[in-house]
Amino acid sequence: MKKITVLPGDGIGPEITREAVLLIEETAEKYGNEFTFQYEDIGGAAVDKHGTPLPQHTVDACRESDAILLGAVGGPKWDKEEASRRPEAGLLGIRKALKLFANLRPINVYPSLLDSSPVRPEIVKNADLLIIRELTGGLYFGTPRERRTGKYGTEAVDTLYYNEAEIERILRKAFELSRFRSKKVTSVDKANVLESSRLWRETADRLAPEYPDVSLEHMLVDNAAMQLIRDPAQFDVMVTENMFGDILSDEASMITGSLGMLPSASIGSEGPGLYEPVHGSAPDIAGENKANPLAAFSSAAMLLKYSFNMAGEAAAIEKAIKTTLDQGYRTQDIAGKGEKVLSTKEMGKAVRSFLPEHATVK
Ligand code: NAD
Ligand code: IPM
Ligand code: MN
Repeated sequence: MKKITVLPGDGIGPEITREAVLLIEETAEKYGNEFTFQYEDIGGAAVDKHGTPLPQHTVDACRESDAILLGAVGGPKWDKEEASRRPEAGLLGIRKALKLFANLRPINVYPSLLDSSPVRPEIVKNADLLIIRELTGGLYFGTPRERRTGKYGTEAVDTLYYNEAEIERILRKAFELSRFRSKKVTSVDKANVLESSRLWRETADRLAPEYPDVSLEHMLVDNAAMQLIRDPAQFDVMVTENMFGDILSDEASMITGSLGMLPSASIGSEGPGLYEPVHGSAPDIAGENKANPLAAFSSAAMLLKYSFNMAGEAAAIEKAIKTTLDQGYRTQDIAGKGEKVLSTKEMGKAVRSFLPEHATVK
């Protein structure tokens, strides 16, 4: 039996993971699979209960499971905590502990949501891209990373460090995954300024001949931010370092209409993958049964597909989401003027009701 560790976290995290678990349970019942779920603490919830955002128990439980489903961490309550006790440190810690270096963030546009995007429908309608964000290196983890007293008083330093092996493995992932798509990789960097980006670009050029069927282009990150809005359809696989990927994916979410639509999968070379929405704990709507659970649902679909090889079940969830949207069901973040607004729970119920009878891949 497949074991899924659920890390609900903070804010809207518990609200959306609850619905995602109900959805996975429904697919299990419908298509004859068996899953067990175990719940562990992470983030602010873990700080409150155990005094640390990532208890060892949580790491051990994740390691022993087949896949991990995470909600979100963070919130104003813990914003004054010292760095190691911030909820976000729990998320960074579990990614690092499980060596989840590749974060896949697909941007899929649902035709019935074309008008929900602040970008014009004719621009977003053909967008279909996969952002591959390096997840365990770069500015997030380089050292020194500290506050200290120096010649000019208080100073702070973060370090953008990458070694060639780290760059190579994420670029290889991009080349390999592009073969299941349109075989076009855009590597995004800031090679006109940063030494780490120049190493990144050289590494990409060195690897490219090994993937002669894939076309590689380089793009500077500031231009990429602009191109994502000007013409998102030009991209297929976009691969980039940790911080650039964090920022560009939130930007890209607007192509779909809402940050509440974007799923992600974090995977390493071995061990369980971690699946989570791209969005955060949304403190402004937490506890109000208003959050859009669809990013969590698509993350659950990615879990079934990548960790359990259940492409049919994953496609069934995606199909149910599409039907739900086609039928006009909307949470507040994607609702147009005058459209009926559903709660998180009502949206969950709708998607479950639209699961197809059979889980098959087209
Ligand atoms: P956020 O993603 O939580 O929210 C940004 C905006 O998007 C808010 O207006 C929010 O209401 C909206 N939104 C987000 N998800 C939504 C959903 N599913 N449905 C409807 N609306 C949604 O970003 P933020 O406000 O900058 O950060 C809040 C906290 O979340 C911070 O503590 C931050 O560190 C944390 N965070 C966590 C993660 C994660 O756990 N993966 C990701 C990003 C931010
Ligand atoms: C994300 C989040 C995290 C990140 C934070 C909460 C540490 O923004 O998953 O995109 O920056 O990686
Ligand atoms: Mn982010």
